[in-house]
Amino acid sequence: MSVGRTHYAAELNEQMVGQTVTVAGWVHRRRDHGGLVFVDLRDRTGLVQIVSEPGQPGFDAVERVRAEYVMGVTGTVRPRPDGMVNADLASGAVEIVPESVTVYSEAKTPPFNVGDASQVDELLRLKYRYLDLRRPELTANLMLRDRSLMAIRRFFHEHGFLDVETPSLARSTPEGARDFLVPSRTQPGQFFALPQSPQIFKQLLMVAGIDRYYQIAKVFRDEDLRADRQPEFTQIDVETSFMDRESILSLMEEMLRSLFHEVLGVTLEPFPRMTWRDAMRLYGSDKPDLRAGPPLATLTEAARTLPWTVLSEAANVVGVVMPSYQPSRKELDQWVETAKSLGANGLVWIVRSDDGTMRSSASKWLGEDGMGRLAEAAGVKPGDTLLMVAGAGWAPNQVAGQIRLTHARESGRIEPGWRFLWVTEFPLFEWSEEEGRLTSAHHPFTMPHPEDIDRLASDPASVRSEAYDVVLNGTELASGSLRIYQQDLQARIFAVLGLSDEEIQAKFGFLLDAFQYGAPPHGGIAFGLDRLLMLMAGAESIRDVIAFPKTARGTDPLMNAPSPVDDAQLRDVHLSIRK
Ligand code: AMO
Repeated sequence: MSVGRTHYAAELNEQMVGQTVTVAGWVHRRRDHGGLVFVDLRDRTGLVQIVSEPGQPGFDAVERVRAEYVMGVTGTVRPRPDGMVNADLASGAVEIVPESVTVYSEAKTPPFNVGDASQVDELLRLKYRYLDLRRPELTANLMLRDRSLMAIRRFFHEHGFLDVETPSLARSTPEGARDFLVPSRTQPGQFFALPQSPQIFKQLLMVAGIDRYYQIAKVFRDEDLRADRQPEFTQIDVETSFMDRESILSLMEEMLRSLFHEVLGVTLEPFPRMTWRDAMRLYGSDKPDLRAGPPLATLTEAARTLPWTVLSEAANVVGVVMPSYQPSRKELDQWVETAKSLGANGLVWIVRSDDGTMRSSASKWLGEDGMGRLAEAAGVKPGDTLLMVAGAGWAPNQVAGQIRLTHARESGRIEPGWRFLWVTEFPLFEWSEEEGRLTSAHHPFTMPHPEDIDRLASDPASVRSEAYDVVLNGTELASGSLRIYQQDLQARIFAVLGLSDEEIQAKFGFLLDAFQYGAPPHGGIAFGLDRLLMLMAGAESIRDVIAFPKTARGTDPLMNAPSPVDDAQLRDVHLSIRK
């Protein structure tokens, strides 16, 4: 029998009453109400209710089906009786009375209930991902992904960008994570690396004159996983020539604005800008969450004249203001412990009660006057609490920033909304403890800030870059930069990085060679598509917006990958396994 579906579940509504329709899908739930049998039939759009009673056509089949059986139903649409309308369902005002029913497949009892899998262990869900994906939440995420990709592609196409595919069998790129390697059969002992980004290819495309490039690119990084990291993920990768920073940022902002408008119906405010230094000072992070309460207060100056050297002599004193928060002694002790676990020496608190009086862990040393000065400098109002961390460098800001976030999350004070932000002027270099030298904060082709170029040799650590990030609600969504296209400047950067001519030639020789044949000024960005979709979907993890993700341990329990290979395969690629 041919299936001949005429409608998806979500297309059925009161306008269709009296019509004959054919629906098909999986049994979500089956209920027996003293003779009357109800089946919620699920397809990728949602559920529709089938109702049948003894003696009616198809009753035997409806009676026999169990969860996850696959069935098709042809029948008449009728309104549900008064009081039985389900406002949560698109088809909730109607039901179908079958004229014929076909059971296409029976199903074993599934290892978990598709209708209620919220508490099911994720490993089990990933092992049976095809069942997991039947859950309406996950199906909806895949549909969101599809609609978003359509909108993104349309935007870039309409703005003159060419979609160019770049190879997956490539060599190490400068993104700084560990590579996934692919041994070569034809070149014994040699390896491809799966790309960590199309970075070098997209710069070569600019040399080739492509001018505006984008790609929805699969990339690979062998790094430790977290909720927002997968070993294999998708970038919206972009590069342009002859555009200044301002034009690139506003075009990318426009892309996100049109995406959110088209897919979520949300109109985004213009994105604020913040330099990296301000982000560190005000939020203790290069990806500030603007929803989590007031920014940090710098109290170093106010502390200078206090009669207590712990604060007055500290190089940096940072305060977290917690509005309308009167913690217990136990909670305050916990904040002290939290600060210590984050690496601070300690934490000083001032609690200002509703009547304005103050108490402090350091009242004995600060006195009324000292508490008053700090509270005033931090903008503490009656009813607020102030936590302070002292130290040197950015460390107190980072500890305070973590405390700010933790407090906002734990007390449910994260404000709703889409708080986008551009973070600009990242440092060009960062100190690598591991390597004992300066390394590129982004990658070595990042353009230094024009005002700082003359300090490249004398004070490289202070040099800012033309790199920028898009941050959304405390998550880094995208990174990009203007690139160096002048050979002499590139040589000066390599000198700061301490790379020898041989290393430079081996790692980036082909790019530098290309630059000798006419490189345009260029710059670009890459968005983490999965992270973007995770936030758009309101999901907890990027795994929820990827059809077949890896576990937190980087494995695939469905196909059992990675897996051993047989000796012949190893021999083909000239490998043997070290014991
Ligand atoms: P970057 O390394 O910052 O920049 O990556 C760009 C964006 O990709 C996302 N991302 C990830 N998403 C999921 N899992 C991961 N393991 C993961 N790692 C990164 C983030 C990040 O902002 N070539 C440069 C871009 C450029 O300069 O044009 C690059 O790859 O959202």
